[in-house]
Amino acid sequence: MTVPCVAVDRERGEAVRERLADAAVLDGDHRIEVVDGTIYLPVIDPAGVPADLTGSLVEREAAERDRPRTPAEILGYEPSLERLGDIVIVDEDDEERAREIADAVMASDLPCDTVINRASPIEGELRVRRWEVLAGDGTETVHREYGHEFALDVAAVYFSPRLATERHRVIDQVAAGESIIDMFAGVGPYAIPMASRGADVVACDLNETAIDYLRENAERNGVSDRVTAIVGDVRDSVAEHAGSADRLVMNLPHSAGEFLDTAVALADAECVIHYYDIQHEDDPFGPGVRAIRSAAGDAYDVTVQTEHVVRSYAPHEYNVCLDVRLSKR
Ligand SMILES: C[S@@+](CC[C@H](N)C(=O)[O-])C[C@H]1O[C@@H](n2cnc3c(N)ncnc32)[C@H](O)[C@@H]1O
Repeated sequence: MTVPCVAVDRERGEAVRERLADAAVLDGDHRIEVVDGTIYLPVIDPAGVPADLTGSLVEREAAERDRPRTPAEILGYEPSLERLGDIVIVDEDDEERAREIADAVMASDLPCDTVINRASPIEGELRVRRWEVLAGDGTETVHREYGHEFALDVAAVYFSPRLATERHRVIDQVAAGESIIDMFAGVGPYAIPMASRGADVVACDLNETAIDYLRENAERNGVSDRVTAIVGDVRDSVAEHAGSADRLVMNLPHSAGEFLDTAVALADAECVIHYYDIQHEDDPFGPGVRAIRSAAGDAYDVTVQTEHVVRSYAPHEYNVCLDVRLSKR
């Protein structure tokens, strides 16, 4: 079958292609071809071709393009999907619709081994949720984030790919030589990139499986020598590091307030705390600032460096981060 093409010298190809794309007449279903120094650019509507190019219009056989098939093209609607390594996470309450989406994901060109759906909220001290495996098998994967690799089993540890930008914002503040304590470290998405920047990091978590992955991830990313991984309740297990931290990461948003006395005990004379919280939109930062000031007491001056909304958490509730400097009086 022939299609209308604009035929120009190859050297002019990119400039003309851009003009045809701007005019919304470039035909994405057929291949652009170059023959003997002439480029043939298929168009969908010869009448829309800019006037100075109409003399270059020819009819020509053009092969159809192999277009990637997305889940949305298969389903006819855009499903809500999230990627975690080679796992695709579906966010769907309706079971039948979830299965339909999983089938479309597996039939599409999306590189993916497993499709899972949320089967419970994030629960318990270890902040883990249950999952329904809709296609493929296994919930273990290797996720890549800003150049680092994190092996994890999403059914056994906490991990949210949605927080990548927030982690990057905090990690970017770290300088080589700092002593950092990540009080709720999970599989290491803060601790390991911070060690890559030259910091010495103590990473603690109550979840033994998370710490096993953290150790593996430290190896994978070549920073084992700068990461000390500790299993246990941070209130009991990092006492030997009291007074040592230049920086503390407190990513346990629902209950970080209960750990502020420990944080103050771990702080060096100068220390930045990244304090995560979930609060009502009417006063998202006030409760956290007051709790930190109260824990610091007369021992430290408290300077709030950043009040940052990470994301909307629930209707009228924000997940926020306070970057706060403690300076010994
Ligand atoms: C919200 S997750 C954050 C994990 C990690 N920072 C991340 O961004 O993926 C909180 C983590 O705190 C751990 N945790 C809860 N209570 C703890 C405690 N008392 N001491 C140490 N870790 C604790 C949980 O097991 C969980 O891995």
